[in-house]
Amino acid sequence: MFVSSLFYLPLTFFLLIAASASLETSPKAYVVYMGGSSIDEGEDVENMESSHLQLLSSISSRKLSRESILHHYHHAFSGFSAFLTENEASALSSREDVVSVFPDSFLHLHTTRSWDFLEVGSSERIRSRYHHPRNDVIIGIIDTGVWPESPSFDDEGLGEIPARWKGTCMETSDFKRSNCNRKLIGARYYDVSISSSNGTEERAVKLRGTPRDSVGHGTHTASTAGGARVQNASYYGLAEGVARGGSPSARIATYKACSEEGCSSSAILKAMDDAIKDGVDIISISIGTSSLFQVDYLNDPIAIGAFHAEQMGVMVVCSGGNDGPEPSTVINTAPWIFTVGASSIDREFQSTLVLGNGKKLRGSAINFLNGTSSREYPIVFGGEVAAKYVPVNESRNCYPGSLDPKKVSGKIVVCINSDPTLTRRVKKLVVEGVGAKGMVLVDGTLMGNPFDAGLFPFTQVDDSAGSEILKYIGTTKNPSAVILPTHVVSNSSPAPSVAYFSSRGPGVLTENILKPDIIAPGIAILAATVPTNDASSVPKGKKPSGYILKSGTSMACPHVAGSAAIIRSMHQWWSPSVIKSALMTTATLSSNVGKPLTDSFGQTASPHEAGSGEISPYKALHPGLAYETTTEDYLLFLCYYGYPENKIRAIARTKTKFTSCPKHSTGDLISNINYPSISIQTLSKRGAPITVKRTVTNFGPINSTYIAAVESPRGLVVEVSPHEIAFSPTVRRASYRVTFRGTKAAGDNYNFGSITWSDGRHSVRTVFSVNVVA
Ligand SMILES: *[C@@H]1O[C@H](CO)[C@@H](O)[C@H](O)[C@H]1NC(C)=O
Ligand SMILES: *[C@@H]1O[C@H](CO)[C@@H](O)[C@H](O)[C@H]1NC(C)=O
Ligand SMILES: *[C@@H]1O[C@H](CO)[C@@H](O)[C@H](O)[C@H]1NC(C)=O
Ligand SMILES: *[C@@H]1O[C@H](CO)[C@@H](O)[C@H](O)[C@H]1NC(C)=O
Ligand SMILES: *[C@@H]1O[C@H](CO)[C@@H](O)[C@H](O)[C@H]1NC(C)=O
Repeated sequence: MFVSSLFYLPLTFFLLIAASASLETSPKAYVVYMGGSSIDEGEDVENMESSHLQLLSSISSRKLSRESILHHYHHAFSGFSAFLTENEASALSSREDVVSVFPDSFLHLHTTRSWDFLEVGSSERIRSRYHHPRNDVIIGIIDTGVWPESPSFDDEGLGEIPARWKGTCMETSDFKRSNCNRKLIGARYYDVSISSSNGTEERAVKLRGTPRDSVGHGTHTASTAGGARVQNASYYGLAEGVARGGSPSARIATYKACSEEGCSSSAILKAMDDAIKDGVDIISISIGTSSLFQVDYLNDPIAIGAFHAEQMGVMVVCSGGNDGPEPSTVINTAPWIFTVGASSIDREFQSTLVLGNGKKLRGSAINFLNGTSSREYPIVFGGEVAAKYVPVNESRNCYPGSLDPKKVSGKIVVCINSDPTLTRRVKKLVVEGVGAKGMVLVDGTLMGNPFDAGLFPFTQVDDSAGSEILKYIGTTKNPSAVILPTHVVSNSSPAPSVAYFSSRGPGVLTENILKPDIIAPGIAILAATVPTNDASSVPKGKKPSGYILKSGTSMACPHVAGSAAIIRSMHQWWSPSVIKSALMTTATLSSNVGKPLTDSFGQTASPHEAGSGEISPYKALHPGLAYETTTEDYLLFLCYYGYPENKIRAIARTKTKFTSCPKHSTGDLISNINYPSISIQTLSKRGAPITVKRTVTNFGPINSTYIAAVESPRGLVVEVSPHEIAFSPTVRRASYRVTFRGTKAAGDNYNFGSITWSDGRHSVRTVFSVNVVA
């Protein structure tokens, strides 16, 4: 989480005025969502803007001006954001023409600084065999902006900017029109507005905008999705190789809706509205709300924007969050969003610990040590060097203020990790701050997730190595150790595996759609960044690195956006749902040693962890069959979820046909939406079996016959009917039914499995999750 003083500023401010009981009347920023756009109904932009102001005046007694409105939305959907009092917000939300009103809250970037890593290979996995894709694909990145000087945005070899492009390259004092080119074809920014009021007057405090990235997150995600090939990219020599985006021929447009403090809802919506209007094909968003306080679809800016993007044929790919490994943490779970979890790659960052007795222990970390800092030092356990009056359980964990500087100065300190609320980054700062010469962290669970300690000697070991170290310290007169510099090991196995931090399903809002959808590389991803001259992370004598290793579902998301771009470039007319289905049904469920995918604990990964599996973009070019999900299907979803018909009608507007919701709309029917995976929230052991319907469209050879095979856990009976489908010139689309019987299944448990249709050449897998209750 990017949290800084600015992020807390408005909160503190409101707490202060709450104390003076004037919260009711002091305006705050809100988003007013009014459903689909009416532009294609002959409305013009100026008219709509004045109608927003009129609407606002009709319910407000305050003096209003054009400035009272922060953003107007009119291209893909309609509405606006403005400073409203609670009473005004509530008056607006009860109007027939308003779908929802929600506070303009802050969303977070899906990476954290404690997850800065090193790696190179992931993008090589998505190596293009097609040097001249037939069509230009434009990827819109909604993030922290871009560092246009990075070689990843070189436009060498790219043709003219597609004529359909309607976007722009916004100029500021630090960003020139010439910073855009045929690779980076657009760059917009949005002033991040903060509600501010002195009790009598409200104001939008606008943080100075620029398309330029100062955080690095947006530059990293943009170059991962569509960066050019860059030779010899590395993170200070580590993981050297070719850096390239998933789709090096893709064009990139960046939309800066986030700063270091976070991303504002109203700016994200404006960015999505603009991106759709500008003509992007795919939108990549590595941002989300908290997994603890999930809001429903119509109060979630990303879900709203993504719905209308889908309605206009634009695919939206989002990160699922970094709140794993606990279940029910995945976010961005609307069925029209492609939700991405993170996986490891086949590369390890080893930093070996050599004890004074010569024993070598395997450790994991990213550090750039030289001959001076990688030296032998005395080694002590935090539990034995506690500061005065500090409980030993705190110094064992290397809590701030828990270590006695006199006892640790000049030594390597061993810390355990029994309290996960204290991050590795904080522990390292504590140990470094008291003058230690190095740190060994004992925590096996996070070893697959190497910590970037920069210039500080740091390594992380598992519990058995930890016991060995403590035993050595306890039985040796002058215990000592050396932490060796990071050594990159390639082709490690098993890989991929689900990242420890990757948010897990089932979805909180509904369990009848399986989420996350897919996993993609998100650990130690090498990509472009903002070169920063931070003395603590730049090795002596080196220039600041333009490439860095980062981890998070933030890094996984643009891998999927880039893969979707590859497919779109080959199959221009495939809809977002066909591309999504192709990527899901061809995803792999096995690792590089031919065994089932695992999670970071070594257990077989379930669809709640891995979705349909790890992306396999080249298989997805020839999926055979696809599950097409239409905008009408998504409107039915909104009916089944329980939204009122009049709101759904406003959302559909004239773009999508909608008359009314089916008579008996219940949440159970969501399982029947034509989704590429199946999820059933409740299958009663004693009750009736449940049948769901799916429809597949043939995208392979016209005359093909597919046969279904089922993989299901013992006791769960799964019947597919028909279990053979013959496609022909007259049969391009066919439906089948799946019946689940739980009588003999393991009760009070999720039963996971899959249905695979095969014609001998294509394998079309649909994973399922059925919650059997006794
Ligand atoms: C509040 O701010 C406005 C504009 O900045 C100013 O005119 C007004 O005097 C301020 N009121 C108080 C109570 O400080
Ligand atoms: C990349 O590195 C290799 C050897 O490390 C060198 O021979 C080559 O010239 C470099 N290429 C570029 C483009 O810098
Ligand atoms: C190694 O690192 C130390 C501490 O960061 C520094 O003082 C020293 O100059 C470095 N030596 C070399 C050879 O880079
Ligand atoms: C350490 O132990 C004390 C006393 O048993 C307890 O109050 C405290 O919460 C513990 N702290 C940690 C970090 O476990
Ligand atoms: C498909 O089968 C039909 C007969 O069912 C035949 O007429 C047609 O030529 C076949 N098409 C292809 C591409 O094989």
